[in-house]
Amino acid sequence: MQLHISPQTTPLRGELSLPGDKSISHRALMLAAISDGPCEISGFLPSLDCLATLNALQSCGVSIAREQDHVKVNGVGLQGLRQPQQEIDCGNSGTTMRLLTGLLSGQTFTSTLIGDASLQARPMRRVIEPLSMMGAQITAQNDHAPLTVQGNPKLKAIDYRLPIASAQIKSAILLASLYAKGDTTLNEPIACRDHTERLLQYCGVKLQRQSHQHCLRGLQQPHAFNLNIPGDISSAAFFMVAASLIPGSELTLKNIGVNPTRTGVITCLTRMGADITLASQRQVGPEPVADITVRYARLHGIDILPSDIPTTIDELPILMIAAANAKGSTTISGASELRIKESDRIATMIQGLNQLGVTATARPDGAVIQGGTLQGGQIETCHDHRVALGFCIGALCAQHRVIIAPAECIATSFPGFTATAQTIGVTIHER
Ligand code: S3P
Repeated sequence: MQLHISPQTTPLRGELSLPGDKSISHRALMLAAISDGPCEISGFLPSLDCLATLNALQSCGVSIAREQDHVKVNGVGLQGLRQPQQEIDCGNSGTTMRLLTGLLSGQTFTSTLIGDASLQARPMRRVIEPLSMMGAQITAQNDHAPLTVQGNPKLKAIDYRLPIASAQIKSAILLASLYAKGDTTLNEPIACRDHTERLLQYCGVKLQRQSHQHCLRGLQQPHAFNLNIPGDISSAAFFMVAASLIPGSELTLKNIGVNPTRTGVITCLTRMGADITLASQRQVGPEPVADITVRYARLHGIDILPSDIPTTIDELPILMIAAANAKGSTTISGASELRIKESDRIATMIQGLNQLGVTATARPDGAVIQGGTLQGGQIETCHDHRVALGFCIGALCAQHRVIIAPAECIATSFPGFTATAQTIGVTIHER
């Protein structure tokens, strides 16, 4: 499928409700599955990635009923998961594979996790190492999936310093630590998204948190819970940049998660001169939520520093699009992790920007982007949803039509994007 997008000639105005947070949707399903009773989740993101987690848990014997974004899960308790009959297919989803590897490490059975070509090319040593220290036996192909996880119901607690700021590694260990006797202690170099910690506490698990250190005593049974998942700030980021770039625009994005470990995109855009205000800030269950209003503003280039990366990691592609339309140059450094996402996001983004006539250079750990005027052209997404969505917004500011392909990948995180964009007057068509 291709997306054809015309330059935007009218302001973007109105209110949007966006799909639920992807990271929280994965975690809500996993914790509900091992909770001690019936759970109801609303605002669930029915994207391909989250459905991979849902299918995986069903294949482990958990009864889950879904109607659009409303999910009922019958928690089976810590010891209630059953051996799947077949390999678990995680599709394109790194979060599914890495977090499930943690969860499956504490089971009495062996299971195998597979993924698509992109996922099977992503590094798994980062979870295999700490989970093996805890007593799981995990076999991989040169540190890549397929992963066979031989569970060990008597895992050992560990004291572990994360070598990388990664919420997926942290969460895999936290899920495994529920099955370990004793206190597991984790130290993270820079704070990254903490949805697992918040949700664990929300379902009654005692977790001690002191700045970058977390300590969880094992063998605590999570309690059943009901949860409202807020809109995904990573999806909201595309519309924040669109409204910032199109003259006369004013968009309000309703009910968006504003967890401080995720709001780096707001901080960076504000540093670039964006006009973003948060209203009705409130706590919904374990997460802070707000309505975000973004008005057109003239953006200028900034330096995005290593300390900005953990809170902007998934928004760097759309920040690159903002940079390409800003006055002056923007640098990004300390972001080598981008090279091992769904695609090599530094290479894919720079190639696409160059294709549209932007002066942009890749660095091993980031990029230098000179703001200018985007031309028309055809973009190769490398099947990466955030690249595809980023260039959809870039296309609005281009001089001529932009074609984006392959674009099916958008359903990985943002099903219904085309229809949502059309409601605010974007000329976008699927072909
Ligand atoms: C995620 C963590 C991040 C992020 C990914 C989702 C999560 O990955 O890029 O899209 O839900 O835990 P890393 O843990 O590899 O940084």
